[in-house]
Amino acid sequence: MSFTVAIDGPAAAGKGTISRAVAAEFGFAHLDTGLLYRAVARRSLAGEDPVAAAQALTAEDLADEAALRTRAVASEASKVAVLPEVRQALVDFQRAFAARAGGAVLDGRDIGTVICPEAAVKLFVTASAEVRARRRWKELAEAGEEAEFEAILADVKARDERDRSRATAPLLAAADAVEIDTSDLSIDEAVAAAILAVTRKR
Ligand code: C5P
Repeated sequence: MSFTVAIDGPAAAGKGTISRAVAAEFGFAHLDTGLLYRAVARRSLAGEDPVAAAQALTAEDLADEAALRTRAVASEASKVAVLPEVRQALVDFQRAFAARAGGAVLDGRDIGTVICPEAAVKLFVTASAEVRARRRWKELAEAGEEAEFEAILADVKARDERDRSRATAPLLAAADAVEIDTSDLSIDEAVAAAILAVTRKR
């Protein structure tokens, strides 16, 4: 039987870390759905039509994760993600992944609300914009992309605004989601809260 864990929330709230830890703890497969939108964005920045790019996406587009983790790609991703046809083209792949035997964790913005409304567990992971910008700044610095903190904070806020205000599948906690605010939690504490929420539904 499939068991799906849906993890949504804004950029750099800790979804990735939590998702990987939950997947490892329970032996589930993990899909970072943001990578799909980033891959479409990368093709779009190279001049392709984003809808055609979403329809033609292959596993190869996801292979070079470092190239998908740049600020420019992140910003473009939140623009192509507004397009209903782009979102539609990515639905089947995500649902098939969620239905895997052995369990799956999917993280993104609309997993609990649109992609997997029947998920066994839904988490909504948040943190203040300042905390998230600080984490993203550190990640980028570690990856060799130096940037001003204020510029990263502005990026985070602009992306939040686009993700929350779009008409199709906006960033929103599902009514039955468990909220985890990671602003004042260590990684271990945030992971423990997520594992507890999953354990309760197992
Ligand atoms: O999570 P990540 O920062 O990689 O996502 C990049 C962008 O992709 C987000 O800002 C959002 O606009 C879009 N996205 C989305 N729905 C998802 C995952 C990501 O719209 N399920």
